Amino acid sequence: MVCLGNICRSPTAEGVLRTIAAREFPGLAVEVDSAGTANYHVGEPPDRRTVAAARRRGYDIASLRARQVRAADFAEFDYLLAMDRANLAEIEQLAPERSAAQIGLFLDFAPACGSDVVPDPYYAGHEEFERVVDLCEAGARGLLLALAAGEKKVRAP
Ligand code: 4NP
Repeated sequence: MVCLGNICRSPTAEGVLRTIAAREFPGLAVEVDSAGTANYHVGEPPDRRTVAAARRRGYDIASLRARQVRAADFAEFDYLLAMDRANLAEIEQLAPERSAAQIGLFLDFAPACGSDVVPDPYYAGHEEFERVVDLCEAGARGLLLALAAGEKKVRAP
């Protein structure tokens, strides 16, 4: 899961995915991580507004720590999924030529959720942080359903 700072959207997506996978898809072996394209907040916990919004919905993400996307991610992970188009452009540019990782938008997996991106809430209000959780739940369920159905490909962004 990839966003800009790895303190709002992608840690929410990570926590939501891990929780829903364990609860609703116990037979599916998935490993989830998140990172940011920028290094502004490396080593920091998620933004307190993000932690609070996630906690209100039953997701504990307080122990996560921000890191930046690294070259090894393209070999270690099957999917690198961006929260918005700027994040997507960044990881497309960082991808090694022979990377087998599928790169796309997280919400490609939730075509009916009403948004194709998870908007950056950093300079926004309370409601936008709630919306991040809504969108991450939709993306997580869509992605996990696709994985459970054996789909391998990310839809073209
Ligand atoms: P994120 O949100 O990409 O969802 O983690 C942001 C976090 C920090 C900044 C921007 C967006 N920032 O400019 O520091």
